[in-house]
Amino acid sequence: MIKPFKPYAPEQPWLPFSEVLLDWDEDFHQLMLCDHIRMVAYESAIRSQVRPGQVVVDLGTGTGILALWALQAGAGRVYGIDLDADVLELATQRIHAHGFADRFEAVNRLSYDVVLPEPADVLISEIIGNVGDNEDFQPILQDAIARLLKPGGTVIPEAVETFIVPVEAIRTHQDIGNGSVATLNGRYQFQQLLRQKNIRNPFNLYYDAIIPTQQHLADVQQVKRYDGNWQQAPQYSRALDFTVTTTGTLTGFKGFFRAQLAPQVILDISSGDIGGRKCSDSWKHCFFPIEQPLAVEQGDRIELRFERRYPHDQAPFRQIYSWHGQVVPRNASATTTANVAREQPLQFRQSMDEAALAGISLSALPALDAAPDAG
Ligand SMILES: C[S@@+](CC[C@H](N)C(=O)[O-])C[C@H]1O[C@@H](n2cnc3c(N)ncnc32)[C@H](O)[C@@H]1O
Repeated sequence: MIKPFKPYAPEQPWLPFSEVLLDWDEDFHQLMLCDHIRMVAYESAIRSQVRPGQVVVDLGTGTGILALWALQAGAGRVYGIDLDADVLELATQRIHAHGFADRFEAVNRLSYDVVLPEPADVLISEIIGNVGDNEDFQPILQDAIARLLKPGGTVIPEAVETFIVPVEAIRTHQDIGNGSVATLNGRYQFQQLLRQKNIRNPFNLYYDAIIPTQQHLADVQQVKRYDGNWQQAPQYSRALDFTVTTTGTLTGFKGFFRAQLAPQVILDISSGDIGGRKCSDSWKHCFFPIEQPLAVEQGDRIELRFERRYPHDQAPFRQIYSWHGQVVPRNASATTTANVAREQPLQFRQSMDEAALAGISLSALPALDAAPDAG
């Protein structure tokens, strides 16, 4: 089994790679190529779905590994699209080295600008973020399905579901507060990312971190499901109500995805088992911290409003997540001395858009599900 490209520990916060995706370099691609659960699932899905002679589009081909598997499965032609010319050169070299030069066409464009001479039978992509939509896959796939794929063609992944759960992750919280955030190499700097995104408070950003299942404080809930023609609105506002199952300290929320890559192939990044190589080395989990940790007891409720939207103006990021809500003690109406301090709901409020946080109440914003799709 391939070893992780970079060792990592439970609860260790890493820079959120989905937020620097246009700067990805060779190390990041190496990290993905060494991600055992990612590689096994994608290879299995592609080999089970691609038939000899078929036309395949590999959207975001990167180093060309998915395209190579499609060619090995017998694809008659593979169009490998990537906006990054340098990585596309690596894909071309890989495909040529395997003797498939005559069946691979590199397309160095943003997918929205691509026009192909023939519609594809299969559309492959791996532009999934660790909370599903944090690489903005919905509009990209909706456009590609409509323009580049035959009607009824095969899409890998078929569907992606995202989930969220309140967690106790003390170390992650402390490390974020101390600015101790791991990065893949010197190109990626934590403080530089905060500056780029105009974020002053590190608790208004999400992080990549493995948060083991034992640290869940409640049952996991689904936030979103994308499937079919990928027409689901990418801007949304979800109200989630968790009942605390384990007394502890709420330090934030763990997000993750489960992708149905093909009828028999599921890629699930929820595991926290690093030693057993069941975690995703590249995605890890998505950790949404809250600035002030809150003590919670079994039976308390955690009300969470989880939102995703695009910036209203030229904000220096392409998507904004906001997570706010409150802990409602199970005995909120009781009046004994012991629980007086816990009678008031305990609130938290974080957003990647700090200006909106300071100026207007997020709950006063119009319902985002009703907003037109952007992107
Ligand atoms: C997560 S990497 C996956 C690379 C490769 N498919 C793999 O599985 O190893 C995503 C790649 O998609 C490219 N990409 C993302 N969105 C794109 C778009 N809309 N058009 C073209 N390329 C895109 C990025 O440049 C990056 O190389």
